[in-house]
Amino acid sequence: MRTLLVAVVLAPALFAQEPAPTPAPAPVAAKVDFDKQIAPVLLARCISCHGPKEQKGDLRLDAKSHLFVAGSEAEWSVTPGKPDDSDLLRRLGLPPGDDDIMPAKGEPLSKEQQELFRRWIAEGAEWPASGDEWLQKEIAAQVLPKITFDLPALDDTERALIERMAMKLRDKGWVIQPVAADTEALDVNLSLLRDQITDADMELLAGLAPRLVWLNVSRTAITDASAQFLAQMTQLRRLHAANTKLGDSTFAALAKLPHLESINAYGTSLGDEGLGKLVALPKLDRLYAWQTKVTKAGKQAAVDKAPKLQIDLGDYVEERLSAAQKEIDERATRSKPVNDMCPVADKPVDPAHTLEHDGQRIGFCCAKCKAAFQKEPAKFASKLPAKKG
Ligand code: HEC
Repeated sequence: MRTLLVAVVLAPALFAQEPAPTPAPAPVAAKVDFDKQIAPVLLARCISCHGPKEQKGDLRLDAKSHLFVAGSEAEWSVTPGKPDDSDLLRRLGLPPGDDDIMPAKGEPLSKEQQELFRRWIAEGAEWPASGDEWLQKEIAAQVLPKITFDLPALDDTERALIERMAMKLRDKGWVIQPVAADTEALDVNLSLLRDQITDADMELLAGLAPRLVWLNVSRTAITDASAQFLAQMTQLRRLHAANTKLGDSTFAALAKLPHLESINAYGTSLGDEGLGKLVALPKLDRLYAWQTKVTKAGKQAAVDKAPKLQIDLGDYVEERLSAAQKEIDERATRSKPVNDMCPVADKPVDPAHTLEHDGQRIGFCCAKCKAAFQKEPAKFASKLPAKKG
């Protein structure tokens, strides 16, 4: 019985070793293309845990130099030419649910994908520079939203000047970064530096004007002396200037910035006069003006001139506060007894002894009277004040 079984199992293997009768030319399988066949799988299934953000198991798979680090743990992951010595391949092929299987989350890689990894390693695990570039670009695009801006063309000298300036300012601890993938547009956030940032800094910042689209100067020490520099930032789309000393003269100067879409002026000295100038901005559609000097009439006048402009005076906050106060008052009324004198003993009510009866709170002078009432409420009903409403 056993002999027969072995023979059956071996038969195909023996057969395979026999030379094929008419040897057809074996199709020459193209080498695995790292950029097109491996990198996309790494990006989609591995980089979230083995990339710039996280390096689970101390492994990064987003650039060649990270994987092939001599003497490191990662070296075991892929041994070029030896798929069977490569921990990475072993992990891909583990049964679903195994503690060591990769990816550690989601479906296992398909058999075809695993086979591609096997062949790629067997063929020498080539990882061209173009693969690094592709991965870097894709990862950046995942992290940063794609937003495009129409910015003025710059020649090389101008561009270099801006880059040098940005570098110098970053050295001072300024947060200066591209707004999105594939754009030179800059987002500058100085709010963390608080009152270290003064009007003189706005003069420096004006050097980035052709690329500066988002600016956050909230809580900094800038004043209306910054107006002339802010007015040079002609590409600005968003300005966050909350809790600064800026007033109408600065906001009037901002009315020269044709691309400005949103201004946060919360807690500034913006008044109706400044607002009256801002309405001239063709693209402005959002203005936060809570706790400023802007009045309801000023807001109305502005909206009449610029119907698209949404001005937030924080009215809803006031509304919410007054609704909350009303609720508190109502609750207090509800818990207050409707009667001054105890209906059982005709003595003054002690607020510690009350109960809810027929939708009203009734007070008693002591626990005993309360108990007596609970037993026979009808007997004392005539002593209660007439029900309101
Ligand atoms: C959800 C997160 C996650 C994903 C996605 C993921 N891994 Fe991992 N990986 C881990 C964790 C956690 C470890 C460390 C624990 C361990 O060794 O099992 C690890 C370890 C490894 C190791 C061993 C590293 C070492 O030197 O010990 C390899 C190789 C590996 N992963 C390959 C991959 C590959 C290839 C993919 C994509 C096909 C992938 N992983 C996707 C979480 C993940």
